[in-house]
Amino acid sequence: MKIIDNIKELKENIKSLNGSIGLVPTMGALHDGHKSLIDKAVKENDNVIVSIFVNPIQFCAGEDLDKYPRQLQLDAKLCEEAGVKIIFAPKVNEMYDDDKNNLTLICPSYSVVDKLCGKSRPGHFDGVCSVVAKLFNLTKAHKAYFGQKDAQQLFIIQKMVRDLNFDIEIIPCPIVREKDNLAMSSRNKYLTQKDRLDALNISKALFEAKKLAQTNTATKRAIIDNSLSLMKDLNVEYIEFVDKNTFMEQDEIDKNTLVLIAARTKETNTRLIDNILLWELV
Ligand code: PAJ
Repeated sequence: MKIIDNIKELKENIKSLNGSIGLVPTMGALHDGHKSLIDKAVKENDNVIVSIFVNPIQFCAGEDLDKYPRQLQLDAKLCEEAGVKIIFAPKVNEMYDDDKNNLTLICPSYSVVDKLCGKSRPGHFDGVCSVVAKLFNLTKAHKAYFGQKDAQQLFIIQKMVRDLNFDIEIIPCPIVREKDNLAMSSRNKYLTQKDRLDALNISKALFEAKKLAQTNTATKRAIIDNSLSLMKDLNVEYIEFVDKNTFMEQDEIDKNTLVLIAARTKETNTRLIDNILLWELV
């Protein structure tokens, strides 16, 4: 496995690869959620490239860009053991001109972008789409792997690929959870013991929502009330019900309902997201 930090060397190495290329874009601090994407990519492609890049342009002012966990050596061990060919871990000035206000960006501009996470993180998805498009161009990957944990991100990237005719297949991968159902996240490292206990109520609310929905008597209102009472020790940013195919908000639940939650823990103000399909079989 090679660890490459510059574009010139990446391009040279990609030229010498034979067969299909799978890309797993990440910001590092890899956990079993990332590993599930990597394992799937290794199974389905001759060559797998994992990018590790804490992308500054997708962080808003006041967010955790500086303290975001960085652990390249540990990440490299996980990738090597999983059968990855190349880690691409560039420095910021390798990816962007020095003047961050003078860049060509991909700025998706339809209603889904400003909802949910887009509401509290203006410009976030411009940063995500721009870096992901660069990674698609740089790696010439045939397939790219994204987690359903970031369901809105996945939806927006799938639409970008359709709208801009990228020659790449997006492979969605299921959410990986801790034994107690907390969705795995690099940001879980920030949690205090109390935060972590409180955070469990996010997945608890989602799993109860699913149970309630499947009784066929519960309304959206009843599910929201139950969820908010479970999450009373968190600062809930949103609990939203959308159609999984359009991301349009739903007034009532149906077989396509995706429930999404974003909430902050009280001790460390860590922002966590999670989601569940109400009718997906577990
Ligand atoms: P990051 O948060 O590192 O996540 C990288 C990929 O891993 C994303 O596709 C994310 O959905 C997936 N992932 C994270 N936790 C997961 C879990 N518990 N189960 C399944 N998949 C999980 O998302 C990003 O980085 C960035 O926005 C990026 C796409 C790399 C662009 O900078």
